[in-house]
Amino acid sequence: MPRQFFVGGNFKMNPISRDQKQTIIGVLNSADLDTATEIVVAPPSLYLIPLRDTVRTELQVSAQNCYYKDSGAFTGEISPAQLVDAKIPYVILGHSERRSIFNETSELVAQKTKAALNATLKVILCVGETLQERELGQTAAVVEKQLQAVVNVLQESDWSGVVIAYEPVWAIGTGKVATSAQAQEAHADIRQFLSKAVSPAVSENTRIIYGGSVTAANCKELSTQSDVDGFLVGGASLKPEFVDIINAKRN
Ligand code: 13P
Repeated sequence: MPRQFFVGGNFKMNPISRDQKQTIIGVLNSADLDTATEIVVAPPSLYLIPLRDTVRTELQVSAQNCYYKDSGAFTGEISPAQLVDAKIPYVILGHSERRSIFNETSELVAQKTKAALNATLKVILCVGETLQERELGQTAAVVEKQLQAVVNVLQESDWSGVVIAYEPVWAIGTGKVATSAQAQEAHADIRQFLSKAVSPAVSENTRIIYGGSVTAANCKELSTQSDVDGFLVGGASLKPEFVDIINAKRN
């Protein structure tokens, strides 16, 4: 079975007002969207439930983070069980902003991934190297180390609930998009790693999406690469051009 193209919008800590959120959702609700693509939007947690209730049925909603415990004294956190109860199907885990600003280790990301999958959430698992690591030729090694922590705690069957987002840190929010050749090479390395570390079937079936300065102008070319199965979009997901990115595969 071919891998279904996947486009996610990571709103991060935006928009700043409910009015702006309504404008973004209004654009998506009235747009002509490629229904062959799986579409997910990840607003700040405050907006998860209102957005779930107002967005058209073709769009799914994702949290941007969760903890690994079900409940308890963990001020500021949301649990996988709470997201499932609120009928939120996806969660983004391991985003580079969480790794670098909030000091999340690959082991913590792995623990959260396992807990989210156990709770029946689907996970958009982010990995990626810094500019320095790329310049030192360490891209594949860094990404494999981030993934190995997750491989260590998942069972083969868990991977059906995972979408991997390759997001080179140097491309996030910088306007410096990876070339389609750079993205393809990194995605192919990830696929090869999954084949060895998990199984050929998981390698073949797992979607690997690209994130980092994706725009309406660069998405078509990136989408032609055989191992690029979609996008995780930050800044451009807040703009009307997100519609063109969702429709990247449509001729
Ligand atoms: P930008 O699209 O703003 O570069 O952000 C990418 C990203 O971090 C998506 O998770």
